[in-house]
Amino acid sequence: MKIKSAEFVMSNSNVTNAPKDRIPEYAFIGRSNVGKSSLINMLMERKKLAKTSGTPGKTQLINHFKVNDEWFLVDLPGYGYAKVSKKKRTIFQYFIENYFKEREQLVCAFVLVDSRHDPQKIDLEFMRFLGENSIPFAIIFTKADKLPSSKLNKQLLSYKRKLLQHWESLPVNFLTSSSSKLGRDEVLNFIDQVNKD
Ligand code: GTP
Ligand code: MG
Repeated sequence: MKIKSAEFVMSNSNVTNAPKDRIPEYAFIGRSNVGKSSLINMLMERKKLAKTSGTPGKTQLINHFKVNDEWFLVDLPGYGYAKVSKKKRTIFQYFIENYFKEREQLVCAFVLVDSRHDPQKIDLEFMRFLGENSIPFAIIFTKADKLPSSKLNKQLLSYKRKLLQHWESLPVNFLTSSSSKLGRDEVLNFIDQVNKD
């Protein structure tokens, strides 16, 4: 898919105020600092479309971007970051959960996980929540540039094996790096295909 345009539409803390357009929507979710906003910038080939930071907890709202005037891409706050105050965390979780439950336009959630790490409880719980709410999702392994390829392959194999203890079949998954652009075509082609179906 060629990206002809990518524009910021609006930020919200409440899904009921999100854009009303009935166009397909894809959301990026995962632990704080996993690389959601960086991945969005990499996919759109725009350095500063979504705000990124080395400090976890950068994205705090539901951010809608319109792509090619045809679909929405949504950058969400991360979950599981201990340094955000407890009160704020509860509010975060509430509106993230609400977003997924209420947003009818959502066709697929991309759950981002760091390719260096073993499955984390919070990620598995989040995938289960999506499954229970019949929300299709794909997994994106991020930061592939951070491990040498032999270690990376071993880690991915082990991750997938562990996932199969929770899921009957492996969800669609992608390996990406926002610095090397690895996985860009694969993710965009997947979105293109789902948009056509
Ligand atoms: P929150 O909005 O805080 O939930 O974080 P996020 O998931 O949006 O992460 P963000 O994109 O802000 O990236 C967090 C940090 O990881 C930044 O310092 C990025 O530069 C770095 N980063 C993200 N993706 C990659 C990647 O593919 N490779 C490398 N080496 N660093 C990355
Ligand atoms: Mg972010």
